[in-house]
Amino acid sequence: MTAPDVRAAAPDYPAKRDAACPFAPPPVLRALAEEAPLSRVTIWDGSTPWLVTGHESQRALLGDERVSVDEHRAGFPLFSQAMRDTLEHRPAMVFNLDGAEHRRLRKILTRAFTAKRVQALRPAIQRITDELIDAMLAGPKPADLVTSLAVPLPSLMICELLGVPYEDRDFFQERSAVGVGGTASAEESGASMQALTEYLIGLVRSKKETPGDDVLSDIAERVTAGELSEVEGGLLGLQALVAGHETSANMIALGTVALLRHPEQLALLRDTDDPAVVATATEELLRYLTIPQVGQRRIATADIEIAGEVIREGEGIIIDLPTGNRDPDVFDAPEALDLRSPQGRHQAFGFGPHQCVGQQLARAELQIVYGTLFRRIPTLTPAVEFDEIEFKHDALAFGVHALPVTW
Ligand code: HEM
Repeated sequence: MTAPDVRAAAPDYPAKRDAACPFAPPPVLRALAEEAPLSRVTIWDGSTPWLVTGHESQRALLGDERVSVDEHRAGFPLFSQAMRDTLEHRPAMVFNLDGAEHRRLRKILTRAFTAKRVQALRPAIQRITDELIDAMLAGPKPADLVTSLAVPLPSLMICELLGVPYEDRDFFQERSAVGVGGTASAEESGASMQALTEYLIGLVRSKKETPGDDVLSDIAERVTAGELSEVEGGLLGLQALVAGHETSANMIALGTVALLRHPEQLALLRDTDDPAVVATATEELLRYLTIPQVGQRRIATADIEIAGEVIREGEGIIIDLPTGNRDPDVFDAPEALDLRSPQGRHQAFGFGPHQCVGQQLARAELQIVYGTLFRRIPTLTPAVEFDEIEFKHDALAFGVHALPVTW
């Protein structure tokens, strides 16, 4: 199909990636992006929201206050029938609130996720990364990098950040893996999320009495000040967990796959101890892989003129970050993974009022893992052929189910 044909057809979204080229956005979306920054796609309920693939248009719309995340508005491009069925029971969260209500909750999170606090966590991230690598090296070969390193590291770091006591960490990690890991049944995952929510609400209550230097203690202080309820406080902790667990885990594992696939790029990380080199490399991996793969969902609350089109009030909008991060108008060589050259302002963490709250934590984790793994295990290699690696084609965030490695 030629690019104009594909545009007229409003192809299905999300679309399939090319198995031979899994790091790149699906070919059909690339064809749309080549043709225009805005197109139409067809989603599961037969509706045809706008798909935004152009980097500049994405930035403009993500920062536009006429663009809403309110999933209750008629015409909002919901993710699935399951989401529609549970719409009435979904709590108000940073992800689905606009304006003043959003700012009220978000301010509490951003105040708690300070750069200073993340900086102070770096030694703990390094120690846990080293301990997990030690344990992997001491265990049998091949090892699965996903269960040995990619999943436990973010989970332990969220425990550290939220202030989950040591004795509760096994419970917390186990429930998180089931609740947000994406492999359990809907029932199991729902039960785990419920248990985690109740646990976090209880923890906020106890932090009101005995605060520490952690995010939930900051949240508890806001509860004491009457700015939010204990339930809202516990749910804020849960939102950080939901948003930060799978994303970081996928990025650690998928980044490792991409590096093993590009040995000349991997060599750069293996042979350096310069934090600036590792930081630039991490930004490029974030851009190249841009893992959110089912689109940032929005709805227009007024007519919006953009890129020669008019998005009408009430029309659904899907921002596809992976295609935007390979826009040739913004990036010089968008298809290449080049860890040496900073490719400008990628939007792997989104943009505007809903931009990722946990990006400093995610960056710190990724920089430490990428900067440590290949120096500690220079002979790290996949234990299966590339085409045997199972990619997460249907998940909210792209990644791999398992990564068998040896050394
Ligand atoms: C590599 C890892 C990560 C990636 C790629 C990522 C990506 C994103 C993106 C694209 C958004 C914007 C959503 C939108 O506009 O619709 C977002 C929002 C968010 N992220 Fe992350 N994230 C990562 C890690 C984390 C971590 C570690 C945390 C916290 C511990 C976190 C917490 C959040 C929260 C709370 C929001 C919602 C903000 C709001 O709606 O105001 N993320 N993330």
